[in-house]
Amino acid sequence: MPQDREKDQNQVHAAHAAHAARAAEADASVARARDLAQSDPLRPLYHVMPPAYWMNDPNGPIWFNDAYHLFYQHNPFAEYWGNMSWGHAVSRDLAHWEHAPIALVPDPGAYDSDGVFSGCCVDDNGTPTIIYTGVFPEVQCLATSDDDLRTWRKHPANPVIAARPREDLEGFRDPFVWKEADGWYMAIGSGIDGVGGAVLLYHSLDLVQWTYLHPLCTGFGTNWECPLFFPLGDRYVLIVSPHGDVRYSIGDYRDHRFSPGAWRRLDAAVGGPFYAPHCLEDPRGRRILWGWLRVAGSEGAPWNGCMSLPRVLSLLPDGSLGIAPAEELESLRSAHQRFESLELGAGAVHVLDRVSGDALEIRAEIMPGNAEQVGIDVLRSEDGNERCRIEYDHVAQRITVGAHSGDFQLPAGEDTLYLHVFVDRSVIEVYANGRAALATGFQPCQAGPRGVALFCAGRKARFKAVDVWRVNSIWQ
Ligand code: FRU
Repeated sequence: MPQDREKDQNQVHAAHAAHAARAAEADASVARARDLAQSDPLRPLYHVMPPAYWMNDPNGPIWFNDAYHLFYQHNPFAEYWGNMSWGHAVSRDLAHWEHAPIALVPDPGAYDSDGVFSGCCVDDNGTPTIIYTGVFPEVQCLATSDDDLRTWRKHPANPVIAARPREDLEGFRDPFVWKEADGWYMAIGSGIDGVGGAVLLYHSLDLVQWTYLHPLCTGFGTNWECPLFFPLGDRYVLIVSPHGDVRYSIGDYRDHRFSPGAWRRLDAAVGGPFYAPHCLEDPRGRRILWGWLRVAGSEGAPWNGCMSLPRVLSLLPDGSLGIAPAEELESLRSAHQRFESLELGAGAVHVLDRVSGDALEIRAEIMPGNAEQVGIDVLRSEDGNERCRIEYDHVAQRITVGAHSGDFQLPAGEDTLYLHVFVDRSVIEVYANGRAALATGFQPCQAGPRGVALFCAGRKARFKAVDVWRVNSIWQ
């Protein structure tokens, strides 16, 4: 017997060593592409992303040992989807980040040989534990770290959920785990034939043995990816990625079932680049969320995809969802300019004096008055021919950011539009009145300096104040 155990132990050590070697190869591949990726003028400076090559979903965000850890679906070998691995970045302040070694790679011949798919990370009594989907078939797996999340060991009991609980399912992936008084719960993204999108609920006492309970929730579409489920104020929120715009619902959670309210877009931009978000609760009790932004750089540049800025979710007094950029981003600000009390008549375009740059933060306080459309052009070429227009349409109650638009209504009784704009080379994020977020990608064709202009269409609008900062890189 002891001999058998020794043999088992040796096999486990050999598997860990082989995984570490493969992760090191992946890191070396990324390192070789790094300079070229970073020389691309369209590559964002202050959105989290791998040093080079492809990323998709944010994975396993966690606050652990006084640091934020953010993992992500990563192809360490190319700027397209494949070889799904977990990249890793670390921050102490939510604004400045450092790259960490690649955490997980697929192991040939194993349950995850076709990819280490999305999942989450929890603190299991001091042991950081990743729960992810291995493919194919889709099975749920564990990995743990004992060196402050730098290197990871796949659990010998993997896969901890080796088979789906029923046959009539569309997908079985992206575990999201949380703790309640009576143990761990896991939500898995799926769909039930003839029913619709579904989140399946499991229970465990030790993260290793799991019991299937029932669907946490079912609804529209055919398959839901990347479910997130958490309390917010005195309500619960379920977020799903249904192969189209990400939806959330604020509802109630009783007897381990979620009764959703209305389903709404989490990022208001219809058909926009935002997808498959993930979130954590930080020590201040804030719910912080990042999404994958499907943006690309210059032709042939070896990078693709970045995260959204960290978005803080809250429950507003009127029961709706608040969404705002994390205030820590202010520490990235440098040179500042302020403009006050600008009245714009119908058809006016006002170029902001001496404002230029492709990495800017802009806060604008606008009284749309009786203007039909009002807004800001960013990344504006000197001749004004090329720009990314951010427009609030007072009549249609919509916001447009470049190629994407979404519904937005000024809250009842409020007559001021607060636009908070982040321009980061090929990525633009706009937040409105702490209630809506829209992301888009933008690829200029012309070279040359980029400015900012305010505009008004139809009647008159007042820009009470416009603050513009240059923004520094997040990389240490
Ligand atoms: C969402 C998704 C997940 C899956 C991962 C694979 O974008 O399809 O469902 O785990 O990407 O990279």
